[in-house]
Amino acid sequence: MQYEYILTEAAYKPHIALIQLNRPKELNALNLQLMQEIKHALATFDQIDDIRCIIITGNERAFAAGADIKQMENRTAIDMLKIDQFETWDQIRKTRKPVIAAVSGFCLGGGCELAMTCDMIVASETAKFGQPEIKLAIMPGAGGTQRLTKAVGKALAMEMVLTGKFITAEQALDAGLINRVVPEELYLEEAVKLASEVAAQSPVAVRLAKESVLKAFDSGLQEGLYFERKNFYMCFASSDQKEGMNAFVEKRKPQFTGR
Ligand code: HXC
Repeated sequence: MQYEYILTEAAYKPHIALIQLNRPKELNALNLQLMQEIKHALATFDQIDDIRCIIITGNERAFAAGADIKQMENRTAIDMLKIDQFETWDQIRKTRKPVIAAVSGFCLGGGCELAMTCDMIVASETAKFGQPEIKLAIMPGAGGTQRLTKAVGKALAMEMVLTGKFITAEQALDAGLINRVVPEELYLEEAVKLASEVAAQSPVAVRLAKESVLKAFDSGLQEGLYFERKNFYMCFASSDQKEGMNAFVEKRKPQFTGR
């Protein structure tokens, strides 16, 4: 498959493959095709025996600034339901090999959800994490309300999801959202170091151990994800969603009416 929005390297380092999101002008906004490409690349790498760990990264300015607002702006709740984009996300989560997110800059909305879908997160000091969907009159839809809450606890998750505020890499580290923070020029290198430590272990044991840690983390999650998904689609039934996304595209402040 030819990829348009990602770059991939199966032999980036010994036993380590790399996926780089590559829509820099749009701050790596996650459109549907980009997510399909990530799914395809992960499934391909999962089948290659020599690969033992996979890194997903963006660039210095953005890991990803969220799902593509311009693509979603005019969608109805039923459009969202039919597109069923979360099937792709479920497949991504099923990757058997460990996946590490190497994050710099904006890691927002679906971008933060993508990082949280990975198994570990290494961040640059400049990384900013947030779930700003509320400012568009929608809510996280790819696991944000579930995984963020499990990672950082209710107090901080509630504040981030209800106000859209960003947290710094240091705060994310303190809150237990991420594994490491390093200076910007080192975040990819640090992710490679962590990936190499994992790659030095038995691939069979790593696979089984990853599955087991996820079992602990995910118990009850599927139910939460379906619940979140329905509510996410429901947001697209409101005129506030149209106004929120339209205001973003037109670079103005939104006027919400509660309808
Ligand atoms: C589409 C986006 C985008 C996005 C940025 N861009 N984020 N396009 N979808 N999520 C585009 C901008 O329109 C702009 O294009 C270009 O990228 C650069 O962005 P600027 O806004 O000019 O940059 P800056 O002023 O530095 O602000 C950066 C920013 C801001 C704070 C990250 O872009 C921003 O607030 N983005 C939206 C963040 C967000 O709300 N994410 C959640 C999306 S909903 P032009 O053409 O003007 O140059 C979501 C739901 C997930 O993620 C659930 C399902 C998967």
